[in-house]
Amino acid sequence: MSFPEIQTRAAAEWKGLWQSQKPLILVGLATCGMAAGGNATMQAIKEELAKRNIDANVMPVGCLGLCYLEPLVDIVKPGRPRICYSRVTREKVAELIEDYLVKDNPRPDLALGTIGEGSVEGIPKFFDLPMLRPQVRIVLDRCGTIDAENVLHYVAKGGYSGLDKALGMQPEDIIKEVEKSGLRGRGGAGFPTSKKWQEARRSKAAPKFVVCNADEGDPGAFMNRSVLEGDPHSVLEGMAIAGYAVGTPNGHIYVRAEYPLAVKRLRIAIEQAKELNLLGKNILGSDFSFDVEIMQGAGAFVCGEGSALMYSIEGKRGMPRVRPPRSVESGLWGLPTSLNNVETFANVPNIVVRGGEWFAKYGTEKSRGTKTFALTGKISRPGLIEVPMGIQLRQIVYDIGGGIPHDKTFKAIQTGGPSGGCLPTSMLDTPVDYETLTKAGSIMGSGGMVVMDEETCMVDVARYFLSFCRDESCGKCVPCREGLPLMIDILERITGGVGQPGDIERLLAMSDTVIKGALCGLGTTAPNPVLSSVRYFREEWEAHVNEKRCPALVCKPLINFYILPDKCAGCGICLRACPVEAITGGKRMVHVIDQGKCIKCTTCLEKCPTKFSAVKKVSAETVEVPKEPVPIAAGAK
Ligand SMILES: Cc1cc2nc3c(=O)[nH]c(=O)nc-3n(C[C@H](O)[C@H](O)[C@H](O)COP(=O)(O)O)c2cc1C
Repeated sequence: MSFPEIQTRAAAEWKGLWQSQKPLILVGLATCGMAAGGNATMQAIKEELAKRNIDANVMPVGCLGLCYLEPLVDIVKPGRPRICYSRVTREKVAELIEDYLVKDNPRPDLALGTIGEGSVEGIPKFFDLPMLRPQVRIVLDRCGTIDAENVLHYVAKGGYSGLDKALGMQPEDIIKEVEKSGLRGRGGAGFPTSKKWQEARRSKAAPKFVVCNADEGDPGAFMNRSVLEGDPHSVLEGMAIAGYAVGTPNGHIYVRAEYPLAVKRLRIAIEQAKELNLLGKNILGSDFSFDVEIMQGAGAFVCGEGSALMYSIEGKRGMPRVRPPRSVESGLWGLPTSLNNVETFANVPNIVVRGGEWFAKYGTEKSRGTKTFALTGKISRPGLIEVPMGIQLRQIVYDIGGGIPHDKTFKAIQTGGPSGGCLPTSMLDTPVDYETLTKAGSIMGSGGMVVMDEETCMVDVARYFLSFCRDESCGKCVPCREGLPLMIDILERITGGVGQPGDIERLLAMSDTVIKGALCGLGTTAPNPVLSSVRYFREEWEAHVNEKRCPALVCKPLINFYILPDKCAGCGICLRACPVEAITGGKRMVHVIDQGKCIKCTTCLEKCPTKFSAVKKVSAETVEVPKEPVPIAAGAK
């Protein structure tokens, strides 16, 4: 079948769904949707439709980005706009179907927004919602709208036109177009994609390889997973175009085994693309062949590093190696290999179809295009976002993320995963681009973005992220293998209340040594959380070391809980809840915490009814309380 014939088939199938006389119901079934009960919702929808004899098309789709509002369900009634409903748990299904499909009441109270053309009174436009207005969706454009397990949906929405066009171009011209776009690697380092492809193309040895890095090991990151679950063909198409540009039929994609849904959808996508000759031998009747093999990684963070990843594919232990030679000269099995991140590849088809200049319109001079981020932590609207490069962190936190929940204040934002840096309020106007983030003491990374509020201890955060890197270090080079545990020893000393004068300086000096001496990016960036935290929150570090005080009241050895005699009602709730029987008291008796027994689990603080709020958490402060339970003073609560 020729590509125009495939497009015609796809358009007919797409039209059959969206312009049919039957309602169309889309259910968000990426991992976030499933975790929120999307499968049960889908089942309930099917049962309800069958019960009422309603003939409708029901279709699973990927993530629209509003993970915190899943399960998301969109309903398209014939001739009406698409309406997106949020938090449609299985219990709400019958009501929604009855009201909208049967009685024609679109239930604006349950609706989030209308998507696409047309409007409905009382329902805002989805992409005008505050969290979506500042976003630009290039990579995520199709996620949440197509069935990822149907290649024709992808084609109907413009898919594989990039590959079709590329096959009519000279490989060098494709590389030039990518150069014009200014696309830089989205895996973290921001290396120019065109340069990598050019070098791989020029390498003399054969065969060559194109590899996609879908390891995504950063804690809290799920951008790549969402693209693979919601729009896997965009990555395959990008890889095939790269294969044509570089001059190789061999593609590998390295996905972590903890992403079973992404792996499943990728497998289906590869099979379906092959059936239509969009992958495989002599693609679309051309001389170019390209196939993709999936390799599942066992989940080691270091296997996301390019050279370690390639050893892992070869079946060897995933450990980075000294460079040069670079992978474009000597990668997989010692042969030229061009490695790119999922998001880098997903950008490529659009660049080929619309041109490099179109892509370069977005972003800043040195960081073109958009970037996806997994926005998590202490934020009102966590989820998956795609923003133009250059957007300020403040816009992401407040306009898109909705600010900090529970009336708490913003403290820091960490970009770049475990080896990124924590930026404070004073840096909220920082534009998100590779150079500025690095200058500010953080990194772009692959897209993890964690927001922290006033209840976060910045010393503890540094300890947490550094421990992650220590645990994930492969142990090959001394600075990383020995340096990180030694740094953790000092950090545990500080958060444990036995920090010594000079510890902060010792940590800074050790950071310097690790950065200068480590073999790969894991070691050279691991000290970033420590460095940025000391740079922006030094007072908090000094309070820990000099006053044995944790200002955020987080570090357990530095905090104590007391029951305030003038507030305790003697209700006994804390006493019964305490898991270590550290609380004594009785009816109408002021309760007392045995400081020696208390494990600082915060249960008493959480269980004490708000109307009493009798439990106080302090650091480096002694509160005058009775040593033994005493009767509650007359006139007290
Ligand atoms: C410890 C470590 C982990 C990494 N993990 C990933 C990852 O999960 N995904 C990724 O694309 N790049 C990761 N990288 C970066 C890769 O080494 C490489 O730069 C990237 O895959 C190249 O693709 P790009 O040019 O499209 O960004 C990691 C690097 C290091 C040092």
